[in-house]
Amino acid sequence: MKFQKPRGTKDILPKDIRKWHFVERTISDVAVAFNFSEIRTPAFEHTELFTRGVGAETDIVGKEMYTFLDKGGDSLTLKPEGTAPVMRAYLENGMAAESPVHKLYYIANMFRYEKPQAGRYREHTQFGAEIVGSDSFYTDVELIMLAREVYNRCGINNFKVKINSIGKADERRNYIDVLKEYLKSNINELSDESKKRFETNALRILDSKDRNDRKVTDSAPKILDHLPAESRQRFDRVINELTKLGVDYEIDFRLVRGIDYYSDTTFEFISQDLGSQDALGGGGRYDGLIEQLGGKPIPGVGFASGIERIIIVAEKNNFAFPEPAPPKVYFIALNEEAREVAFDKTIELRKHNVSSEADLLQRSLKSQMREANKLNCEYVFIIGDEEIKNKKGILKKMSDGSQEEVEFDKIVGKLIKI
Ligand code: HAM
Repeated sequence: MKFQKPRGTKDILPKDIRKWHFVERTISDVAVAFNFSEIRTPAFEHTELFTRGVGAETDIVGKEMYTFLDKGGDSLTLKPEGTAPVMRAYLENGMAAESPVHKLYYIANMFRYEKPQAGRYREHTQFGAEIVGSDSFYTDVELIMLAREVYNRCGINNFKVKINSIGKADERRNYIDVLKEYLKSNINELSDESKKRFETNALRILDSKDRNDRKVTDSAPKILDHLPAESRQRFDRVINELTKLGVDYEIDFRLVRGIDYYSDTTFEFISQDLGSQDALGGGGRYDGLIEQLGGKPIPGVGFASGIERIIIVAEKNNFAFPEPAPPKVYFIALNEEAREVAFDKTIELRKHNVSSEADLLQRSLKSQMREANKLNCEYVFIIGDEEIKNKKGILKKMSDGSQEEVEFDKIVGKLIKI
């Protein structure tokens, strides 16, 4: 039997890992600049957290969760998203008492049983950020700026911010009544999926990709026109600030997001380089979530972005991910004693953070030289029969071929200094 990875998962091979390292480093650099702290939560949670937090009528909870009973009979779910777990941790650890505002970020694998396609996996890695404890409109903007900074540093400049407000829970309920009233007269033209959603989650009909659905909803009443002055003003302050900061945004009445915890501002980062899965990231406010999970009414806002998608877009834009530094020196050893010296010296050098390598295959001089070249080493240190006798090796600089004899005792000190 030949084993294959499960559908929708991927191996990240050594040749690609530098891209991941770069993006992850960039995220933590930007997070530090924005004064966010990292938080890590378990890979799985009690299933109930997601049914309650994400919403029973969402695609995530309805069809995409990896849920299982453990041997104790508890229903657990591999986390499909990061916000509900972070809020659970926030509550469970009494973080509100520590400080009124928390700015948190995470990089974690998420699991969704989706139909795999370009940019869509069953296991993907998300970078997410959340601000808990403030309902200032500046927090919405701050998160958009944080995401933008990460994208820019990864060479991604050509994305659009789509933004909308879906109001507060009661405002949304009123709007949904208006929307349903409008849809009622066109119900026969809607797709089967949207007919179902009419009953369960009518707001989501707005973001259906079906052509007929879109025709119907094109002239549907718009939520922004139905928000009370206060919510509308809040939204205007967000977009005014974005305008001031030169963010390329577009108000999109269809942006209602696929998770139930949102309120007021919703936003997505859209890249044309992604094809049909065009969301580089997305998020919004969730002022009711913490209460929903058993806490006090504490406001929050956040977003998340798939790292796979960041890398796809960065590559499409020919971003030059930094190459890892090659080993400084390759020890070429031509007999058993030489191999022992080479091995010991590499171990010593590594203690001093000087990256070094030695042959592991007892190869010929020529093929060890070839290997050193392939690895792009700056130097080789050659040890043959003669060198063992004299306790001196030949240090050769690869760029110009210049060489000198260096005593075994001195080679480590010399390479540390260079
Ligand atoms: P989401 O829109 O479901 O939001 O996911 C956020 C991002 O994760 C997407 O924009 C996309 O880049 C990436 N993503 C999602 N599913 C997949 C997949 N199957 N394969 C590859 N990438 C994927 C959330 O998860 C919210 N928790 C975001 C948030 C944080 N809202 C407030 N705070």
